[in-house]
Amino acid sequence: MNSHNENKLRVSVFGAGYVGLVTAACLAERGHHVTAVDKHQDVIAMLSDGVIHIYEPGLQELISSNLDAGRLRFTDDAAEALTGADIVFICVGTPTKRDGSPDLSQVEEVARTIAVTCTHRVLVVEKSTVPVKTASWIKRTFNLFSSEPDLYEIASNPEFLREGSALSDFMHPDRIVIGVESEWAEQKLRQLYADIEATVLVTDVKTAEIIKHASNSFLAMKISFINMIADLCDKTGADISLVATGMGLDKRIGESFLNAGLGYGGSCFPKDVNAFINIAERHGVDFSLLSETARINDHRIDVILEKIYNALWVAKDKTIAILGLAFKPDTDDIRHAPSISLIERLLGEEARLHLYDPKAATRVAALYPESPSVKYFETPYQALTGAHLVVVVTEWQEIVTLDLDRSRKLMATPVMVDGRNVFDPTTVRLAGFQYYGMGTSDEPE
Ligand code: UGA
Repeated sequence: MNSHNENKLRVSVFGAGYVGLVTAACLAERGHHVTAVDKHQDVIAMLSDGVIHIYEPGLQELISSNLDAGRLRFTDDAAEALTGADIVFICVGTPTKRDGSPDLSQVEEVARTIAVTCTHRVLVVEKSTVPVKTASWIKRTFNLFSSEPDLYEIASNPEFLREGSALSDFMHPDRIVIGVESEWAEQKLRQLYADIEATVLVTDVKTAEIIKHASNSFLAMKISFINMIADLCDKTGADISLVATGMGLDKRIGESFLNAGLGYGGSCFPKDVNAFINIAERHGVDFSLLSETARINDHRIDVILEKIYNALWVAKDKTIAILGLAFKPDTDDIRHAPSISLIERLLGEEARLHLYDPKAATRVAALYPESPSVKYFETPYQALTGAHLVVVVTEWQEIVTLDLDRSRKLMATPVMVDGRNVFDPTTVRLAGFQYYGMGTSDEPE
């Protein structure tokens, strides 16, 4: 018998990674009873003590308070997590295979586990980003492995969380997309999100699956588009920031995701664009627009290296400070971070690197341990000391608010390559630096 408030649901979340943890914590905060399950026992043991293995602002506190309130628990036992569940979320990873297609083995494993373990009616919801028609495969898995496959109904409810602002994105979304096959499933998901104010778009399952890939790919395309224009600004002396402002003032275009720079990284855009291209190929549809999006993005690293070589002539034996290692601010995530390609390429040139990041340094140090060529620092100013050039890679608050006077005095030669266009070129030049931006005209007229 349910002893809890009847408007609140019992939810199990498979996968205690980034998406799963945020989903679990936020649904618990909204009063639902949530069990998150993961097969990594060490992760579950830490989480049960309220210690989380990723950095996301506010998440640690939200998990601790909901553990204390008894609305959230963690387990490595799938059967325990499924007991009495109204809704099961699939939040496991969908990494990229060598051929660019998504590896859905973890999704299939969850489907199999449900099929052999769950003996009551339940709504199974895809939250991980998956290719269109994944729900049909999950259904086939239920049919293969369960003696009562009709107990399970499948829905798609993609997440649109950004790392660094995931909690507020969950609580205040632009939209909630619900892909369902029945009125029953729609009502269950509406009940789940009843306390969250947002436009709810109800679709069939395949449409919801495509909405997620199409949204991320469109945003990635916007970034590559503005980066393409940035290259033209570089060659002609125009100012990309003002071009973006001028474009963004048109409501049909919108101002967001028009920041030119080092391009997109992270665990989502690079993976999702490639997966979407792969899906289209498999269905015989020409997605070369997205292939170009990916190609332009891959090329950003060459653009910034050209600026570095243009400034230093020779990088060998020069000290280069890299400020920011995470793929974006407010996260410790370095997956597909431009900093990694930059480090690799500059070490290939025998440069000496001074690295700084407030959260991601430990992760980078696991790939590039401290050595005569690679040093890590606690503050940006320490990293700048003795440097011949500084590259701004991630726009952390403490980096964009650098004291330029102090910085110039610390550096051997004050040269800045601003990979995110976060500094005003005139201000930096007035502070005594040589300044190179991404599409901001490298030399003053
Ligand atoms: C992205 C989407 O924004 C989320 O809606 C989606 O839920 C998520 O992927 C996902 O699929 O899980 P995220 O990867 O956390 O979120 O980060 P974004 O803030 O979207 O930034 C992605 C990359 O684009 C970063 O490397 C950022 O530096 C870059 N970017 C962003 C630009 O280069 N220019 C811009 O104008 C905006």
